[in-house]
Amino acid sequence: MKNVVVLTGAGISAESGINTFRDSGGLWEGHDVMEVASPEGWRKNPELVLEFYNIRRKDALKAQPNEAHLALVELNKHFPVKIITQNVDDLHERAGSTDVLHLHGKLFESRSTANHRLIYPIDGWELKPGDRCTRGSQLRPNIVWFGEAVPLMDDAVKLTAKADVFIVIGTSLQVYPAASLVDYAGPDTEVIVIDPNMPAVKNHPLLTLVAEKASIATPRIVRELIEKYK
Ligand code: APR
Repeated sequence: MKNVVVLTGAGISAESGINTFRDSGGLWEGHDVMEVASPEGWRKNPELVLEFYNIRRKDALKAQPNEAHLALVELNKHFPVKIITQNVDDLHERAGSTDVLHLHGKLFESRSTANHRLIYPIDGWELKPGDRCTRGSQLRPNIVWFGEAVPLMDDAVKLTAKADVFIVIGTSLQVYPAASLVDYAGPDTEVIVIDPNMPAVKNHPLLTLVAEKASIATPRIVRELIEKYK
């Protein structure tokens, strides 16, 4: 039984209508990323940051999982599949995937600014100034911002190191430490990269590059894997 690990980025959600970050010319929905996705930005203007993520939540609520998200659910009927996503949306879960590690946090969760272990679901789209945790501190989005530690990175490294097949979908592989995960795939691991604008991937003995959109290539790759290892 092949162990499949999938690393996804913004590109897998692009065809669901959620914009990627770096395809938009360095600005993220018109904002410098450091203004809306860094501890400094939060200190400077928490209202702007809260509003920015409120709009992201509204967009995510309108979006539906696409053929790529659904193909990974199909794959999981045949192999154990672990998904490591850099995305904060919940489209993998809404497609039906259950084993999803959100490396960069979750859009539909808030957490206390005083205690990172106090995490709450966000029901709907809005997180407001004055929304507080049970101990009275302002809530912030439960998202890993630039300059912050990535607490689930060790878990992601362990998963990747155990993969027989490692599929990378829709990530520019520019943001570390997530981008370094490919380096943890062993020499016998099949590595498949799906992205229409192929990111720079270090050479690997078993590397397949698929320069196509996720919704087209993923269902085909899934069918091929099922056929190959049945
Ligand atoms: N199918 C597959 N890939 C696509 C598609 C598509 N339809 N459309 C675009 N892409 C690819 C782009 O070619 C690009 O390589 O998706 C990638 C998106 O790259 P980024 O916007 O950099 O997104 P990502 O790699 O997920 O960003 C990583 O950076 O901003 C932070 O924390 C944020 O998790 C995010 C991290």
